[in-house]
Amino acid sequence: YGNESINRPLIHMTPSYGWMNDPNGLWYDAKEKLWHYYFQYNPNDSVWGLPLYWGHATSKNLTTWDQQDAAIAPLKNDSGAYSGSIVVDVNNTSGFFDNATDPRQRAVAIWTYNTPDSETQYISYSTDGGYTFINYDGNPALSNNSTQFRDPKVIWHEESQKWIMTVAKSQEFKIAIYSSPNLKNWTHESDFTKEGLLGFQYECPGLSKFSAPQSDNATYPTNSTDSTKWALFISINPGSPQGGSSTEYFIGDFNGTHFVPDFPYTSILDLGRDFYALQNFYNSPDGEVYGIGWASNWMYSNYVPTDPWRSSTSLVRKFSLEEFQANPESKLLNIKSTPVIDYDTLNFGETFSYENETFDTNNSLSYDLSKNFDGLIEFNLTYTVNGSAFGKSDFADLSLYLIGDSNSDEYLRLGFEGNAAAFFIDRGNTDVEFVKENPFFTTRMSVNNQPSRYIDSEISQYKVYGIADRNILELYFNDGSQVSTNTYFFTGGNFITEVDLEVGVDGVYQIEEFKVRQMTL
Ligand code: FRU
Repeated sequence: YGNESINRPLIHMTPSYGWMNDPNGLWYDAKEKLWHYYFQYNPNDSVWGLPLYWGHATSKNLTTWDQQDAAIAPLKNDSGAYSGSIVVDVNNTSGFFDNATDPRQRAVAIWTYNTPDSETQYISYSTDGGYTFINYDGNPALSNNSTQFRDPKVIWHEESQKWIMTVAKSQEFKIAIYSSPNLKNWTHESDFTKEGLLGFQYECPGLSKFSAPQSDNATYPTNSTDSTKWALFISINPGSPQGGSSTEYFIGDFNGTHFVPDFPYTSILDLGRDFYALQNFYNSPDGEVYGIGWASNWMYSNYVPTDPWRSSTSLVRKFSLEEFQANPESKLLNIKSTPVIDYDTLNFGETFSYENETFDTNNSLSYDLSKNFDGLIEFNLTYTVNGSAFGKSDFADLSLYLIGDSNSDEYLRLGFEGNAAAFFIDRGNTDVEFVKENPFFTTRMSVNNQPSRYIDSEISQYKVYGIADRNILELYFNDGSQVSTNTYFFTGGNFITEVDLEVGVDGVYQIEEFKVRQMTL
């Protein structure tokens, strides 16, 4: 399973060699029409370790990535250029640029310099479009006498004409908010403290602005004159509901100094085990919110069986705010995730499809994907269930098997758990030693139980879009209302060569659509 030629994901970015964790410094260069992605990078080994750099990759289409040379190095070998962000200083508020640098390329990185005795915020600027950076001679730009003060994410706040930084005081469970006119001098404005799931620590915060859905009959607090809403993202580790690390968010208002959440609850952005440290792009060309998560989990990231690299990104996701029908009575405001895939860069193999049939234990389906195959597939599954059957111990599961090697017992099993009316995923059926031994990896999880629509009081419809790229499966429920991202590993290689759909005895489902498509680069 270490075989790189068959196990490296095709449209999820991986470093060619070495270790990767959090996405850093995501920005869009409007001059070159180029997306920049940096990442926590150990170029010397495929486990986390110091010295830690900012690795770098670029993309024209947000689907395939070209790795570039590391962009930011720590000052000493026992230290790290930890997570942070990049802004485009179009108006040269920092004074770092002269006219030779196109305003659209005035990239300034704000990052945490981690040493054995402190974490402080450094700034560096680039005069070559984000490939190399020069450290500001007044660094650190911000310090707080702490070893737990990291991951600055900076945005331009149009309303107050200031730079706004969110940064984690990790083990105090504070997201500190600072403002600055020039990226060099920072004023503390407020702390967002001890909200939501705390876990062991807060990491990688970020504020993003969304257009608000307008509603006449909202059952959540809303001010219908608001055309915008803000979301504050915080990553927690360990202590997420699925175990280990995940990213939560709050929806509310931000006035330039304080973030006030609308609701007493927090939401998890991705309900799988492999999505952490979300960061959103600075300066997207259409003003929409696009982001990337690190597709791993600190519970096992250093041990997964890939070689000579470890970790991939998630797909790029477009985020938007939607009203979400949590149950027949109430709606919530929710962040919807849409995967960004440039289908023009892909080629297609065979498509298998099945439609509109009552499906029970007599109707199993089996698709053979072993021909013309490159380990990348997508599928759509839409089904309806009669809710009056829920909770009955004999209401059988609808199971989708993604089989890794049809000669062995290695497969992913996912589907609808009849007894619990929940969607489940089980990636524990594998012979890879690491996986068999790690309960954080193997235990079956519930990833979703919301129907996409209540057809009437009895019948509920569920929709799942899935994309499997060699060792990573992303599931989008109900057009992205909820998401679950999970990696998986099989001994014979991570290609899924067969897909089966089955129902146990006494289960009845209406399959409106089940379609599987083979894809390659
Ligand atoms: C999150 C994190 C950050 C830190 C970085 C170090 O995964 O712990 O808080 O900046 O990783 O690599």
